[in-house]
Amino acid sequence: MNFLKFKNKKLFYENIAISKLANKIKTPFYLYSLGQLKFNFNNFKKVFKKISPIICFSVKSNSNLKLISELKKLGSGADVVSIGELKIALKAGISPKKIVFSGVGKTEEEIDFAIKKKILLINAESEAEIININRIAKKNNKVVPVGIRINPNISGKTNKKISTGNKDNKFGVSMNTCLQIFNNQYDYEFIKFEAISVHIGSQIMEVNPFKKVLNALSEFNKKINQIGINLKYIDLGGGTGIPYSDDEKNFNLEKYSDLVFNFKKINNVEIIFEPGRSICGNTGILVSKVIYLKDTLKKKFVIIDAAMNDLIRPALYGAKHQIHPLLKNNSNINKYTEFVGPVCESSDTFISYNKYQKLNEGDYVCINNIGAYGRSLASNYNTRPYCAEILINKNKYKVIRPRQKLESLIN
Ligand code: LLP
Repeated sequence: MNFLKFKNKKLFYENIAISKLANKIKTPFYLYSLGQLKFNFNNFKKVFKKISPIICFSVKSNSNLKLISELKKLGSGADVVSIGELKIALKAGISPKKIVFSGVGKTEEEIDFAIKKKILLINAESEAEIININRIAKKNNKVVPVGIRINPNISGKTNKKISTGNKDNKFGVSMNTCLQIFNNQYDYEFIKFEAISVHIGSQIMEVNPFKKVLNALSEFNKKINQIGINLKYIDLGGGTGIPYSDDEKNFNLEKYSDLVFNFKKINNVEIIFEPGRSICGNTGILVSKVIYLKDTLKKKFVIIDAAMNDLIRPALYGAKHQIHPLLKNNSNINKYTEFVGPVCESSDTFISYNKYQKLNEGDYVCINNIGAYGRSLASNYNTRPYCAEILINKNKYKVIRPRQKLESLIN
């Protein structure tokens, strides 16, 4: 179900014509749909119902406090990777018992804070980190639940820059190393090894890589059962992708759910998921204004007021985010059209079309599917303030994080 729709040539998000907002609010701004967010979370929950997983929304994909509070109300936990994200999750009211903490470089301060807050799991990514967790747990006089992140050396078949499960990636430990750690479990008096976790990458569109992971983990679990390790949880991470254009299909969550159902039965563990993009990716757009049109011999540049600092995915990963006009007209200009931002980098370009409708300076457009890794990857490059974030709920809207004051950057 998609909450972004044209009605009579006007682009609507839920019950609001976006052009109405664009006329009132300084562009560029991020615009989210609460209906879409709720739909996505509830749908994920429904598809995996037979597994009763703990769903820990991946805060790195969108760390807006209001959105996370809304997800909390729907029953979400949180997957965090820094003390900052952990504090946001707690502030949103998420119970520490539903928070997992991953990351290859957790500092003493971060581990200490996570221990004091009694979170569900610290997912450790190296032996050195485990030694450190044990030491900090001892100082706190607490036995701490820990998961070990496994790097299964399985390709997620996705963009190389967002692939994490190959042996040359920095994430997790090999199964052999994990086995060694479990063999030496009694060296770590202040750790309870309760889980293994895995996350092989993001924007994965096929079920097959996940199937390979499940098979590998089942084999591994058999092995560790033999040395007396009986896991309470297996954390399967996130990574399920979303379509970024009309010709792409949805990820087959139902098929994945069936596989995980069998996996859970065989392994007799509780399942944790850490979805980010599949929950919030299509819940947001970036609304922007055409500043100039620039015709060259070969192409027409549409220079908009949003830039790579507001959405870096096209520049960083070559990602294609479709751009819609907020008002459709019936024209079709037969010239290669490239949408670019004002930042002084050639990579500050969004997407090109062979044909596009006629646009004028001052018209509004929106860049789609920016709910995940849009605002959370934004920067102040070129001394550009962070854009406002607005949330639509049916026929109402609200600023959920105001535009950053330019003055705060002039110091
Ligand atoms: N769990 C772990 C341990 C992760 O590293 C990630 C994402 C997730 C869960 C959530 O993955 P998701 O369900 O969103 O695919 N900035 C990139 C994506 C980087 C993903 C990093 N890790 C992008 O814009 O495509």
